[in-house]
Amino acid sequence: MSARHRVKGVILAGGLGTRLHPLTRITNKHLLPVYDKPMIYYPIQTLVNAGITDLMIVTGGPYAGEFLQLIRDGREFGLNGVEYAYQEGEGGIADALKLSEHFVGGDRFAVVLGDNVVGGSIRGAVQAFQRQARGGRILLKEVPDPEHYGCPEIRGGKITRIEEKPKKPRSSYAVIGIYLYDQQVFDVIRGLKPSARGELEITDVNNFYVRKRQMEHAILDGWWGDAGESIDAYLRVNRLVAEYGANKTS
Ligand code: G1P
Repeated sequence: MSARHRVKGVILAGGLGTRLHPLTRITNKHLLPVYDKPMIYYPIQTLVNAGITDLMIVTGGPYAGEFLQLIRDGREFGLNGVEYAYQEGEGGIADALKLSEHFVGGDRFAVVLGDNVVGGSIRGAVQAFQRQARGGRILLKEVPDPEHYGCPEIRGGKITRIEEKPKKPRSSYAVIGIYLYDQQVFDVIRGLKPSARGELEITDVNNFYVRKRQMEHAILDGWWGDAGESIDAYLRVNRLVAEYGANKTS
């Protein structure tokens, strides 16, 4: 019998959302409506449906206070509680993740980018990760435009490396913005150097686990969208939620 590791949740909801200007000039991207709910409701539900009830929201910028007003103690979502962290500046996804180290403590955790919406459930991936000895786990989805995302090279069923927004993608898959990590991730982030766009990249974190052969992956069931990728992606996610619903458990 293998031990089942406890998994907490972290939602990253910072950034300036410049790709959605002017919608994001007067609010945070993750507070914009997606069909009938604020965008951040969807990643919260994704985590709750996967059995995760301890949550930290990392945000920043001038509208950070609005998350507290909207989400409050998180009980209406079925959460035990919510902690909030404030990210200064625009250091990227991995930089934001650093702020959750104290909250995560000795546990494992699922990171969801606050603009990622799924049609189905990630419960199976979380359960597989709870049984995994160590390392990380990511989810892939086949997309028509892998050059807009983290894109894996896959050989013999194994990921050999991930490239961030490659001009010439080596597969037709995107690494979606839902990542499962063990505690090693915080040491990995401390060792990172900023990329050409001046950010600590989540793809560099993932490649560390890939090189150590500690990165597992699965293909996500159901639809996926990154509502912050472009205004067209935002519209597409709205339409998918309206037509098929999000976070379906069956
Ligand atoms: C980020 C990651 C990218 C990932 C994507 C998923 O991109 O850097 O690897 O595929 O999220 O939504 P961003 O949307 O921050 O440009």
